[in-house]
Formats: sequence, structure tokens, C-alpha cells
Amino acid sequence: MTAGPDGPARRTALITGANRGIGRAVAAELHRRGTDVVLTARSAEDARAAAAELGTRWQALDTTDPESAERAAAAAGPVDLLICNAGVLLDARTDPLSVPLDLVEQTLRVNLLGTWRVIQAFVPAMVRRGRGQVLVLSSGTTAEFGGRLFAGAPGYSLSKSALNGLTTLLAGHTEGTGVRVDAVNPGRVRTRMMPGQQQLPEEAARFIADLADLPAGGPSGRFFAEQRRPTS
Ligand SMILES: NC(=O)c1ccc[n+]([C@@H]2O[C@H](COP(=O)([O-])OP(=O)(O)OC[C@H]3O[C@@H](n4cnc5c(N)ncnc54)[C@H](OP(=O)(O)O)[C@@H]3O)[C@@H](O)[C@H]2O)c1
Repeated sequence: MTAGPDGPARRTALITGANRGIGRAVAAELHRRGTDVVLTARSAEDARAAAAELGTRWQALDTTDPESAERAAAAAGPVDLLICNAGVLLDARTDPLSVPLDLVEQTLRVNLLGTWRVIQAFVPAMVRRGRGQVLVLSSGTTAEFGGRLFAGAPGYSLSKSALNGLTTLLAGHTEGTGVRVDAVNPGRVRTRMMPGQQQLPEEAARFIADLADLPAGGPSGRFFAEQRRPTS
């Protein structure tokens, strides 16, 4: 938490991949709601430009680069809410029998390992402080925690399923520490990743921002979907 101009502490949220799309809309929504936002992007110039437009703080953070993640963690100061949003969809319209595996490898490097790296950079400090919240951007392609994965973007579906697994691992590992870790499917959102969709990033951002105040003591490791908002 940071002291605001009038004294009371404000939550600090750091969002990855926030120069465009859902991440940028979440940064704008949380800023509008009074959160101290650290907008991050893999390009420092993109982060600086987006933050200047929104009026937030910014840091460069390429989730595939260990030094970049460590630098961002050192520079950002204490973070109460970490939104792991950065992601890629590289293998749309392929199938598991023919998808080029280098695309799967690149996808896993960003979506799974990049997210994991950022979590390793920020969450230990949350555990030491005894409070914090992590939201991991998952997807409907994972069939949540069971069922049949979407085969038309196999590397992407697997990477997001792995993030669901990582979410449950971390939720178990951080139980009782005051830190909660959950996954969220924002629904289909019109961004550069999914240009043909109806839902605007601002709508998804309101849903994600609503999840930013889940009670620290509540059950962690949940999967929230845009169509099924939490009742408590
Ligand atoms: N749109 C949907 O319908 C939908 C549905 C379910 C889940 N999601 C998830 O929601 C998240 C945001 O998606 P979006 O639709 O907003 O996609 P988007 O418009 O393509 O934005 C993706 C963001 O991730 C960033 N990024 C990619 N690689 C990065 C890296 N190595 N380090 C830091 N940032 C990196 C991009 O930065 P650059 O500008 O530098 O490339 C960009 O800011 C993703 O995790 C996606 O899988 C989206």
C-alpha cells in the first residue's frame, strides 16, 4: 500500500502487458477506482506512452527476460495486486497433429514461464508482508479445470491450462500466508489477439477489477469466468 496525497493507504496494482488490449483497460479501470497502478509493458517506450495517457506509473517488464522482471520488482516497490495479463496467441487455426512445435515453445515461454517468472519476482515479497493478491489471465480454451481443451489453438490451450495448474499449485503453497492466487477467464474480448469479438476490453476490465477486492482469507485457487461472477 502507498500513502495517497490525503493520507490513507492506497493499494498498488502492477499489470503485465498493459500497453494495449485487456491489460491496458484493466490499468485504466483500476486507476479510475483509485488504485495506485504500475502499468508495465515489454517495451519501455510503449509503457511510458500508455502510462502518460492514463496518468499511471510505469515500468518496462518483458516477462521472458529474468533481469527485466527483477528490475521491475525492485523499482515498483511493494505490490498488493499482481495481474498476470501478458500473453500471446500464436497458433490459431492449427491443430495438435500439425502445429509447428516452435510456436508451442514460444507460447509456453510467454504464457506459462513468463507468468511464472513474474510471480517469482513479486509474490515472495507479498508472502513476507502477509498480504497480496494475484490474478492470472486464463482462458475459456482450457475448459476450466476439466473437460475437453480447445484443439484449434493447441499450444495456447495447453499454456493456459498449465496456468490453471500453476494457479492451484500456488494457491496451495501460499495458503495461510494472506496471499491469494486465482485465475480468470475474461470471456471473448475484442483486442489485437481476438479482433472479431463483441465484448470490449473496458467491459472485461470492469469484471477483472471487481475481482481485485476478493477477501484475502477466502478460498484461493479459484477459476472465475466472465459469465459466472462470484457471489461472495
Ligand atoms: N482477447 C480475448 O478474447 C482473450 C480471451 C481469454 C484470455 N485472454 C488473455 O488475456 C490476456 C490479454 O489478451 P489481449 O486480448 O489483451 O491480447 P493483446 O491485445 O494481444 O495484448 C497482449 C499483451 O501482452 C503483451 N505481451 C506479449 N508478450 C509479452 C512479454 N514477453 N512481456 C510483456 N508483455 C508481453 C503484449 O505486448 P506487445 O504490445 O509488446 O506485444 C500486449 O500488451 C492474454 O493473456 C490473453 O491470453 C484474452
